[in-house]
Amino acid sequence: MALAPRHNRLRDVRKDGGEVATFLIDLSPSDMARRLPDALAVYVDAMRYPRGTEDQRASMWLEHTRRAGWKAVAAVEVADSRLDEPRQVTTAELTCAPIIGVAYGYCGAPDQWWQQQVVAGLQRVGTDRSRIAELMSSYFELTELHIHPRAQGRGLGEALARRLLAGRSEAHVLLSTPEINGESNRAWRLYRRLGFCDIIRGYHFAGDPRAFAILGRSLPL
Ligand SMILES: CC(C)(COP(=O)(O)OP(=O)(O)OC[C@H]1O[C@@H](n2cnc3c(N)ncnc32)[C@H](O)[C@@H]1OP(=O)(O)O)[C@@H](O)C(=O)NCCC(=O)NCCS
Repeated sequence: MALAPRHNRLRDVRKDGGEVATFLIDLSPSDMARRLPDALAVYVDAMRYPRGTEDQRASMWLEHTRRAGWKAVAAVEVADSRLDEPRQVTTAELTCAPIIGVAYGYCGAPDQWWQQQVVAGLQRVGTDRSRIAELMSSYFELTELHIHPRAQGRGLGEALARRLLAGRSEAHVLLSTPEINGESNRAWRLYRRLGFCDIIRGYHFAGDPRAFAILGRSLPL
């Protein structure tokens, strides 16, 4: 089996007269801990949450890094003045380059709040017990996927999702996303394009007034 590359150069774009190259990289748990403020800033800007939301999320994102099967990926930008003949970029450069997108997830398990919520939702809509067991016994929860607003609409979200899901051993991938009229936003378009189907629609997680959809598909992608 071929080993996944440690990073892949995605495309080169011009910005403010200068030139930058975008790379997709894996983040280790310690990379995530070190870069947590940058990753959370992308999340807050992408979701258009109020400033300060980062502080509420930081400990949870760190706790998630310790879960079984946790994996994270990021899109980073590196200055590059020779687009006609791209130069070699060092690992050291990539580990401190600005993050413009982040995604992570982990293996679902019965002691996790999210799984308990989803199981309750599946039971409420009358899903067959064997189907619930089949879904819950082996899935990757795609927990977060965010691209900074200035970098959205270039295919980076799809590229990060594909990198995150490549080579997973779980049978399914599940996620939750806010319901939007007509499924008319980039997140919905991306998930549909990747073949995600409805698992539960209009679901209310405990303590959140917003309606969510739980979407899923079988793996590999
Ligand atoms: C949802 C989100 C992650 C999608 O990432 P993205 O990079 O913006 O979008 P995609 O990877 O799906 O790219 C698709 C867009 O890029 C364009 N594109 C340009 N080059 C492309 C390429 N080489 N490959 C694919 N798409 C490309 C497509 O035309 C499409 O544009 P459109 O949506 O205007 O039609 C991102 O928009 C985001 O962070 N949104 C806010 C936060 C959010 O909703 N997160 C998910 C919560 S559940």
